[in-house]
Amino acid sequence: MTSDDLLARHRAVLPSWMPLYYADPIEVVSGEGRRVTDAQGRTYLDFFGGVLTNMIGYDIAEIREAVQRQLATGIVHTSTLYLIRQQVELAEKIARLSGIPDARVFFTNSGTEANEAALLMATNYRRSHQVLAVRNSYHGRSYATMGITGNRGWSASQLNPLQVAWLHSGERLRGLLSRLPEADRIDAAVEDLREVLATQTSGDVACLLAEPIQGVGGFVHGPDGLFAAWKKVLDEHGILLVSDEVQTGWGRTGEHFWGYQAHGVTPDLLTFAKGIGNGFALAGVVGRAEVMEAVPAISFSTFGGNPISTAAGNAVLDYLLDHDLQANAARTGAILVDGLRAAVGGLDCVAEVRGKGLMLGVEFVRPGTAEPDAALAAGVFEACRAGGLLVGKGGLYGNVLRMGPPLTLTEDEAREGLAILVEAIRSCAAEAVTP
Ligand SMILES: Cc1ncc(COP(=O)(O)O)c(C=O)c1O
Repeated sequence: MTSDDLLARHRAVLPSWMPLYYADPIEVVSGEGRRVTDAQGRTYLDFFGGVLTNMIGYDIAEIREAVQRQLATGIVHTSTLYLIRQQVELAEKIARLSGIPDARVFFTNSGTEANEAALLMATNYRRSHQVLAVRNSYHGRSYATMGITGNRGWSASQLNPLQVAWLHSGERLRGLLSRLPEADRIDAAVEDLREVLATQTSGDVACLLAEPIQGVGGFVHGPDGLFAAWKKVLDEHGILLVSDEVQTGWGRTGEHFWGYQAHGVTPDLLTFAKGIGNGFALAGVVGRAEVMEAVPAISFSTFGGNPISTAAGNAVLDYLLDHDLQANAARTGAILVDGLRAAVGGLDCVAEVRGKGLMLGVEFVRPGTAEPDAALAAGVFEACRAGGLLVGKGGLYGNVLRMGPPLTLTEDEAREGLAILVEAIRSCAAEAVTP
């Protein structure tokens, strides 16, 4: 069977709105450490980790063995109607790590469901279906989470169970507040919040749900401290703060364990997904007991927090903490961001090299303008693949290269990937200016 056959079969049977990366899509058939191998036998260094999900890497013995031990019991599923030891243990760890006092945890299968659950709790707690969201956000693919997704390209329906009012993100490069000096942007964002509350909402508002760093949005974020400044206003009204840590959690940003910690504030609820299962379907919400308990009927997830995914989750979290991968993210991320800034940061077509830890973006523009250059980003993306490196794409205009390698990335691998990135960016930028 060739990959071409698989591609034709894929296109014949799967919907076209579920896009494939690359002009010549890849079938990944095996992986080890930070490397994957495709059906043609070509090996790639993986700087995207299945969208920041293979957080520890591939074929990690401690995780494989934990899952195998659970499989060997004969129990893959029991339902949450019975006690699940692995689930309780993982909930205890996450509650402790969350930084949220008297925390409770509810497990789901995806980030979408985690955000949906957080919205259920917040709207019931506050007896309001008014929600604040941030422009350029992504929160999932259910009606409510699409409804708070501020990116038309990822919001596939206008049906919305919530009444949503939109805040400026305060990011540095785009949007109204980007015109202001960094020092003024927090005040302006707070003014925007006050104005939105006064003009676009009525009565009680349930929550503000926001990503500390916008993932799909291209790894952009407002100034550090923005969440705390927003929360001061939210507190005046009793409005809850929900931090979507689906991409920013577990130490990926290097400087902190959670993205919210860059803001000097603790959220009422926090949602997590992706990396905690290292590929197993595991996600959830952790939050203040009072808010978590605000669910006025039975609510249960058949597969959420099942014995297999929580066995994986415990092994992932133990590995992460035992090996201090947050520190590794800071160390290897610095090699990448410093190296990229030095080598390509000065190019006319590079608007910004940005990132924290192992969450890094390069934004491409037409030289000398702020006009997004998605074609150049796509060219660099393909050139990276040709050079043996998998990366991601994103941003509202598809002009951002995104890197989110496994947190186990070694310094040598960081340098190896950096060299491929620099070569791809330089050669595509040179081609773009050649008439
Ligand atoms: C910040 C954020 N929230 C929520 C989601 C949705 O997660 P899932 O695809 O697991 O439903 C994603 C997925 O990319 C995300 O990046």
